[in-house]
Amino acid sequence: MQNITIAIDGFSSTGKSTVAKQLAKHLGYVYVDTGAMYRAVTLYAMQNGLIDAEAFNVETLVDHLPEINISFKFNAELGFAEVYLNGVNIEKDIRTLEVSSFVSQVAAISEVRQKLVEQQQKMGADKGVVMDGRDIGTVVFPDAELKLFMTATAETRAQRRFKELIERGDQVAYEDVLNNVKERDYIDSNREDSPLVKADDAIEIDNSDLTFEEQFEKILQLVKSVI
Ligand code: C5P
Repeated sequence: MQNITIAIDGFSSTGKSTVAKQLAKHLGYVYVDTGAMYRAVTLYAMQNGLIDAEAFNVETLVDHLPEINISFKFNAELGFAEVYLNGVNIEKDIRTLEVSSFVSQVAAISEVRQKLVEQQQKMGADKGVVMDGRDIGTVVFPDAELKLFMTATAETRAQRRFKELIERGDQVAYEDVLNNVKERDYIDSNREDSPLVKADDAIEIDNSDLTFEEQFEKILQLVKSVI
């Protein structure tokens, strides 16, 4: 069985990472959460006073890029790799609504994308990888053997995200989560550099009305058809 590259792109909170993690585990592949990398740069900018509700210092953030070191370390208990920023585990800190509210602005900066795409290409160079994000099938691995594009209605996605945030103890309002989902969709789809678009050869999966098991089975069949 040959090792392939599986690119999973799509809008925010479509369940890409849940399915990608499960798929990587099933196939014995490496899973790379590229959204976590953009979130890590955003957290760095927040921690260093380069971004807040009033100001966003793009030039200074670009100057700081060489100091931002993002890495992943496999956590056997959780069964996936957690993200580290300059050696510190930030897996929980990057999932807040505050980080979500700034991340799309940070991800629209070309210099940020250039740095992270280069690292992602190195991480997936040996194939046997499931990578999820917004530009994996179009920019990072345009030759990926299998490309999936996940969609679901904004309301379905916001409900899922809201439930996740409440379960981890965050005090958030559903309306704010829904607005954030819509805002990120808009910025991600309309930015100049690597906008979120479905690659011509990607297979679209609308999971609004699919259970996780139905979706996973469907994807597994697609994987089997190419390996
Ligand atoms: O996947 P997740 O929702 O964690 O991604 C957070 C944000 O990072 C996205 O809304 C998008 O702005 C950015 N992103 C990106 N390109 C990727 C992955 C994420 O621009 N490959």
